[in-house]
Amino acid sequence: MSSLSGKRVLLVIAGGIAAFKAAELIRLLRRAGCGVTCVLTENGGQFVTPLTLQALSETKVYSELFSLTDESEMGHIQLSRAADLLVVAPATANILAKMAHGIADDLASTVLLATDKPVLVAPAMNVRMWLHPATQANFSLLRGRGILAVGPNEGAMACNEFGPGRMAEPAEILAAIESVLSAPKPLAGKHVIVTSGPTHEPIDPVRYIANRSSGRQGHSIAAALAELGARVTLVSGPVSVPDPAGVAVRRIESAAEMLAACQAALPADAAVFAAAVADWRVANAAGGKIKKQPGTAAPALELVPNPDILATIAAPGPARPRLVVGFAAETDDLLANAQSKLKRKNADWIVANDVSAETGIMGGAENEISLISAAGVETWPRLDKQEVARRLAARISEALT
Ligand code: C5P
Repeated sequence: MSSLSGKRVLLVIAGGIAAFKAAELIRLLRRAGCGVTCVLTENGGQFVTPLTLQALSETKVYSELFSLTDESEMGHIQLSRAADLLVVAPATANILAKMAHGIADDLASTVLLATDKPVLVAPAMNVRMWLHPATQANFSLLRGRGILAVGPNEGAMACNEFGPGRMAEPAEILAAIESVLSAPKPLAGKHVIVTSGPTHEPIDPVRYIANRSSGRQGHSIAAALAELGARVTLVSGPVSVPDPAGVAVRRIESAAEMLAACQAALPADAAVFAAAVADWRVANAAGGKIKKQPGTAAPALELVPNPDILATIAAPGPARPRLVVGFAAETDDLLANAQSKLKRKNADWIVANDVSAETGIMGGAENEISLISAAGVETWPRLDKQEVARRLAARISEALT
C-alpha cells in the first residue's frame, strides 16, 4: 500500500504555464490513493479549467473566496483543516511574494495564510523572475519559516529561455509529498534553539579574533531536528556552509550578539549549544583601523571574558529550556573536563569531542563524540557529522516526548 493512501492534499494551482502539469500530479496522487482538493487562482484558471481538475480529482474545485456556496459548504479554514499537506504547484513569483508578506487577497492566498499544516511549494517561473533578488529574498524568507520546496529545475522553458525556474516534474513532486507525509514528526510543536559556528570578536573595524569552527556539526543538528518536525532557531556565527532547509537562521558575529539572539528566541523546549564561542573579547577594540606606525610598539590587546551563553541559558529559572545540551571541545582530559562542565554550566547533557589537530574533527566532516549526562558516559564510534546529528536529534526527541 502506498504511504499516501488515505492522506489528503490541498493542491493550490497558481497562474503559470506549468499549471498544465498539475493535471498529471493529480492523476499520480489519486493513483497512490491520496485525496486531492484543488484551489485554483484566477490566473491559474487561464491555463487549466476547473472542469479538468474536477474530473481528475473527483472533487469540487474551489476558486472564489466570497462565493456563498463555497463558504457555507467549506470555508477557507475548513479547507486547510481537512488536508494533511498543502502543495502549491505551480508556485509563481506572485504567490510566493504573497505568502512571504502575508497578503490574503483571494482564496488561495487566504488558505495559505490561515493554515497550520505543512506547505510544500514547487516554484515555476521565467529564469529572470526566479533569479530576481525579490523572489530570492521571498523564497529564503519562506524556507526560513519552514515552508518546504521541490525544485525549481534547470532546463528549457516555455518562454524559449534556459535556466533555473522550470517546475519540478509531477513524479518529483509526488516523491517530495511522499517523503513529507510518510516521515515521522515526533518533534512537531517543539521549539529548539541551536547555536553553530565560530564567533568573531572585533579588534578594530577590519580585524577580529576567530576560531576554526566550520558550523558543520551545529548546522547538521539544526537540519536533523527540523526533519523530525521541530521548529528550529539556528543562531549562527559567520560560516560558509549553507542554511539548512526549514530552519529560521539568526546571523550574528560576536558572543554578545549570540547571547542576545538566543535570549530573544526563548522560550524553547530545548537548546543545543554547538557553537565554538570565543571565551574572550577585546576590551580595547578600536573604533577606527589600527595603523601600523614605524618605530612604535605592536598594539597590546586587552582581553576580557565573554558571557557564557550555555551557562546563562541553562541557569535555573522559568525560561530555562527543559533540555540544555552543551558541547565540550577539548584537547586534554576530555571526559574529566566534560563532566565538570556538565555540573558547572548546569547542562543536562554534554557532547564531548577531542579537537586535537590530529583528529581532524574541528572543521572536518567527521566527529567522534561521548554523550555525558547524569546517567553516565556513552561513547559513539567515529561518524559523519550528519549521522552524529541524526542520532543526537533522535535522543533529543526521546527526551522531549
Ligand atoms: O567552557 P567551554 O567553552 O569549553 O564550553 C563549551 C560549551 O559552552 C559549548 O557548548 C559552547 O557552545 C558553550 N559556550 C558558550 N558561551 C561561551 C563559551 C562556551 O555558550 N562564552
